[in-house]
Amino acid sequence: MKRLSIFVSGNGTNLQRIAEYFLEDFEVKIENVVCNNPKAYAIERAKKLGIPVRMITKQDFNSEAFTQELKSLGIDLIVLAGFLWKLPESLVKAFPKKIVNIHPALLPKYGGKGFYGEHVHEAVVAAKEPYSGITVHYVNELYDSGEIILQARVSLDEKETPDSLAAKIHQLEQAYFPVAIEQVLNAIQ
Ligand code: GRF
Repeated sequence: MKRLSIFVSGNGTNLQRIAEYFLEDFEVKIENVVCNNPKAYAIERAKKLGIPVRMITKQDFNSEAFTQELKSLGIDLIVLAGFLWKLPESLVKAFPKKIVNIHPALLPKYGGKGFYGEHVHEAVVAAKEPYSGITVHYVNELYDSGEIILQARVSLDEKETPDSLAAKIHQLEQAYFPVAIEQVLNAIQ
């Protein structure tokens, strides 16, 4: 049995998709959802999916006790699915190559501090990039710079807007994120 902890800050569409993807896989369990934003719709989704929600403050997130809590739950993989806080170094060190993130662009472009949510799509459209896409990557101590696991791309139309691009990226996320997670889980002993 592989145990996942999914970290969220917002809507939770990726959480929903991942949960549904692994629903009938009895070798994978989503142990909890960790959320830093009391207003996140992801909380409702987790409740409907029957997954325990662990709300966190900055203080407990940065504590050693939180890392230990995840360890004692037997978490094999942490999945950042639209989670907007930088991880404390101690957490990253405690889960080496056991934390993955999805970024809504083709890293290393359009990554790093300030590039999140619609800001990413606005920048890509403003630069008239021919392509954008998604990047699933391991998490290290810096924003958006760990080893890349999977990328998928989509082309921009002449009349592309940040909203229309977001919809395209969303489709890629739904299609590829669970598959990338499965691939990582299979590689964990
Ligand atoms: C996604 O676009 C993801 O790539 C980014 O944040 C968004 C989260 O969406 N990191 P949701 O909360 O899963 O709906």
